[in-house]
Amino acid sequence: MNVKYDFDEVINRMNSASDKWDGLPNRFGVSEVIPMWVADMDFKAPPPVIHALHQRVEHGVYGYTFRPDSYFEATMDWMKRRHQWSIDRKWIAHSPGILPAISLLIDSFTQPGDSVVIQTPVYHPFSRIIKSLGRQVVHNPLTFENGRYAMDLEGLEARIDSTVKILVLCNPHNPVGRVWSQEELTRLGQICTKNNLLVISDEIHCDIVYRGHTHIPFASLSDEFADRSITCIAPSKTFNLAGLQTSSIIIPNDRIRDRFNESVNSLNIGAPNPFGVVATEIAYQYGEEWLEQLIEYLQENLDLLIRYFQENIPQIKVIKPESTYLVWLDCRELGLAAEELDQFMLRKARVAMNEGYIFGENGIGFMRMNIACPRSILEKSMRQIEEAVHFLCKA
Ligand SMILES: Cc1ncc(COP(=O)(O)O)c(C=O)c1O
Repeated sequence: MNVKYDFDEVINRMNSASDKWDGLPNRFGVSEVIPMWVADMDFKAPPPVIHALHQRVEHGVYGYTFRPDSYFEATMDWMKRRHQWSIDRKWIAHSPGILPAISLLIDSFTQPGDSVVIQTPVYHPFSRIIKSLGRQVVHNPLTFENGRYAMDLEGLEARIDSTVKILVLCNPHNPVGRVWSQEELTRLGQICTKNNLLVISDEIHCDIVYRGHTHIPFASLSDEFADRSITCIAPSKTFNLAGLQTSSIIIPNDRIRDRFNESVNSLNIGAPNPFGVVATEIAYQYGEEWLEQLIEYLQENLDLLIRYFQENIPQIKVIKPESTYLVWLDCRELGLAAEELDQFMLRKARVAMNEGYIFGENGIGFMRMNIACPRSILEKSMRQIEEAVHFLCKA
C-alpha cells in the first residue's frame, strides 16, 4: 500500500527552540516575518523515523551507545542504492556534524599560513572555519553566464600555489543549486591530483536532486580521486534530522582516515547519541518512499516559485536549482545596495532570507530562499515579496 505523506500540514515550530523560527529576533531583530533562512525543513521527519524514536524514548535508558552493524549496513546500502557508490565499512568515520569534520580535517592536514580553496558563492561557514584556524582562503569564484553557474576550472589551476593544500567542494552546491557534472568533477579531480590537494567533498545535499539530474559522489569517479577524498554525508538535510547531530565521513585512504580518527578521538566526539543512531538507520532503511514524495513536493514548490516570479515579479530572477531546497534569487535589477536589499526583504516583504553577500562577494545583490515549507507558506511569502516589489517600483 502506498502511503501519501502530507507536506501541506503547517506545523507550529514556535517555542521549540528552533533556530529558524525562535531565532528570528536574535538574528534579524524582528519576529513577525516568514522565516526562509536556516537550511532545515518545516516538515516532520518520515513516520518510520518518528515511530522508531518513540520506541527508543519509551525504553527510558539513554546511556552510552555505539553504532551497531545495522547502522553501517543501512548507510552502505543507501549509498549503493541511491548513488551507485559501493563503500567499504571501514571507510566510514563519524562526526556529530559536517562542519566539525571540516574543521578537524583542515586543522589536521594544513599548517597555519597554508591555504584552502573554495568556490564562491558558497556555504558561508567554509570561509569562517578556514580563517578561524589561521589558514588562508583562496577564492575561486564560480562563473555566472546566462543565468547558469559553473566552475572556473582554468581559474582554479591558476590560483593554486604551493600554499594550497585542500579544496572544499560543495557537491551539490549550496547556494546556487548546481549538481556538478561528471566532466566538471573529473577535471576538478585531475587538477587536484596534479597539485596534490586533498578534496573535502561536502555532499550533505546529495539526496535532494530534481528531475533530470543525478548526483555523482566525487570519490566514486576513480580510485585515484577516492584516495585523496573525504566525503561528508548525513541524513540531516534529506530527512530533516539536523538537530540529531549524526553524520558520516567517508575516507577510503587509511592514512587520512587514521589521522582524522585521531583528531576525533582526541576531542572525544566520536560517540553517537542514541537518537541519532536510531533515526539515521531507520531513515536510510525505510525513508525512501517518503523522500521520493518530498522531492516531488519540493519540485512542485520550485515550479510554482519559478512561474510566480516570472509572471509577477520579473525583476527578481530565480536561478533554477538542480538540487537542494535553497533557491538563489538574483535581485540585482531592484537596484538596491546590499544592506538596503536585506532591509527591503525583511521590513517591506517581511520574509527572512540569507543575505547573498555572506556566501562571498559575488553574492551581493542575491538572496537565498528556503522553500522547504508547506505550499501555503511559500505562496504567502511570494505574495508579500510581490507587493513590496510593486510598491518599490512604483515609488
Ligand atoms: C553545504 C553544507 N554543509 C554543511 C552544513 C551543516 O552541516 P552540519 O550541521 O552537519 O555541521 C550545511 C547546512 O546547511 C550545508 O548546507
